[in-house]
Amino acid sequence: MKVLIATDKPFAAEAVRGIREVVEGAGYELALLEKYTEKQQLLDAVATADAAIIRSDIFDDEVLAAGKQLKIVVRAGAGYDNIDLDSSKAKNIVVMNTPGQNANAVAELVFGLTVYAIRNFYNGTSGTELLGKKLGIHAYGNVGRNVARVAKGFGMEVYAYDPFLSKEAIEAEGVEAVSSVEELYSTCQFVSLHIPATAETKNSINYALLSKLPKKGVLINTARKEVINEAELVKALEERADLKYLTDIKPGNHDELVAKFADRYFATPKKMGAQTAEANINAGIAAAKQIVDFFQTGNEKFRVNK
Ligand code: 3PG
Repeated sequence: MKVLIATDKPFAAEAVRGIREVVEGAGYELALLEKYTEKQQLLDAVATADAAIIRSDIFDDEVLAAGKQLKIVVRAGAGYDNIDLDSSKAKNIVVMNTPGQNANAVAELVFGLTVYAIRNFYNGTSGTELLGKKLGIHAYGNVGRNVARVAKGFGMEVYAYDPFLSKEAIEAEGVEAVSSVEELYSTCQFVSLHIPATAETKNSINYALLSKLPKKGVLINTARKEVINEAELVKALEERADLKYLTDIKPGNHDELVAKFADRYFATPKKMGAQTAEANINAGIAAAKQIVDFFQTGNEKFRVNK
């Protein structure tokens, strides 16, 4: 049995060691493909693998078809919009994620970006503070919960909107539930995005919503670039010189945003919310254990392509 780690953005070495221990401990072989530059390298590597551990690596129909022995793909992380779920299901390949395992890392980066924003990109001028300010969490899942926990440490007032959770469930955690996305954006100076990229959410963060942000509004996006209507983001930033947008996923119009709003727009060079040793260890080892458990007992608890 061969387990392939295919990561364009490599795990920390410690995480790879932990994954190796789990995989080899079960008597399986571990193969490693990191920082690949051509799709062909992925197609070749996947051809002899029975299982794959991936991150945001694209597993489309072509890659899944090349994995002739592939029985399971585990996305070491939360979002699985990089995997063709229909194709994998048709090919009887089980797809899983590892929910929650990298959530704290993403949440901590939210505050790294937020403080960077309100201290004027550390340019030495006088900034503002988070204490007593309103933070809106757009989708209250694993990352959202961690964001709420850290926000309380900063002394912020925390609000959340999540159409899949009851008001009671959110408020039981000491977070104010709002009843619409519009209410979240009009109430909170700071909004942190945690929605997945789906047919419904793509392009959904538009001019109408951004315009609702209170004075000196800051939108932090550590979710997916596809959820932003990029042309309308430009329009909102052009109209309101008080708005800021910071993200860990470069938008398609990154160069235009840098040229027009260098002091109000920032994107990390690579998606890096989950790029910590701890997150890599947690998510990578969880993925390896899920694979071993799947082969040994048939456990499909974290399957996402049923
Ligand atoms: C996730 O969906 O888990 C995060 O976006 C992290 O993605 P990454 O593993 O590519 O850093």
